Amino acid sequence: PSLLESIDDLSRPQIDVLLSRAKHFKDHPEIAPFSSTPKPIIATSFLENSTRTKHSFAVAIRRLGGLYLDFNAETSSLKKGESLEETFLTLFYQGVNLCVFRTSVSHQLSEFRQSPPIKLVNGGDGINEHPSQALLDLYTLIHLANGDLNGKTISIIGDNIHSRVGHSLIKLLPKFGMKVILSGPKDYLPDPKTLPAQVEISTNRNETVLKSDFIYLLRIQKERHAGAANAHYDNYLENYGVSLELLKSLNKLIPVLHPGPANIGVELDQALIKSSLYKGYLQVENSIPMRMAIIEAMLLNNDQNVGIINGEKF
Ligand code: CP
Repeated sequence: PSLLESIDDLSRPQIDVLLSRAKHFKDHPEIAPFSSTPKPIIATSFLENSTRTKHSFAVAIRRLGGLYLDFNAETSSLKKGESLEETFLTLFYQGVNLCVFRTSVSHQLSEFRQSPPIKLVNGGDGINEHPSQALLDLYTLIHLANGDLNGKTISIIGDNIHSRVGHSLIKLLPKFGMKVILSGPKDYLPDPKTLPAQVEISTNRNETVLKSDFIYLLRIQKERHAGAANAHYDNYLENYGVSLELLKSLNKLIPVLHPGPANIGVELDQALIKSSLYKGYLQVENSIPMRMAIIEAMLLNNDQNVGIINGEKF
């Protein structure tokens, strides 16, 4: 696609190609497909803070052999009132081929669905979606499951209603046969009627953990809270979070994923994050090959030439 805003923008065969190319890039760190000239120019434009997404795209771009442009929204003419469309068109005419964009506004890229001014990857938009994070999480889960996620259960525990990665994961993981249980305080859980068939809800953390093969923890996204979800939860770690001691007491020493940033002492404890069960750093490591695969696939498609990788069109 020219716009990767949502997991819905990818077909299952396209996702399979991204997984296979990510593995290829991970296994062959010497490969840099953009190293011959002219090198593509790829920008990141982050209107919200980021440590993982922005810098892993920057590393992925350099690993591919592309040129990286760090577009600073704070010092740009966006601050003079220029529209996003004019901003993207300006980058396009400067020769930028693709822009990774993060915003606090959900669905902000949807206005470009019919004709994107430049190729765009959603680097997280408000509470809507974070597709590249979900794809690297899928890649990590497949590795942890030795290749087959079919029939496995993952519990996504925490602030589910405000989590853009959670929203991408519940679209993505069932495509690979996974059952998903969303858990957390009831104010942080969506209306079950809005969920896909393979996704259920539970407010009982221990029961949820006992049914799971994997745990995926979410940060409480205070910056996105309003109304009921603004409720303060005392002793969150004891009542809703996951500690190493809890997993030992339930005899469930299973992998724990987290998209980061993690709030130690809230959704998990220091002993868990320092244990071998914690896979957050593996997710960060895997973010580079998966984001290389995403950029490669999107840049192969241009007006004259639909890109084909491993027989699949992009
Ligand atoms: N996972 C994630 O999006 O982290 P950053 O906010 O640090 O990019």
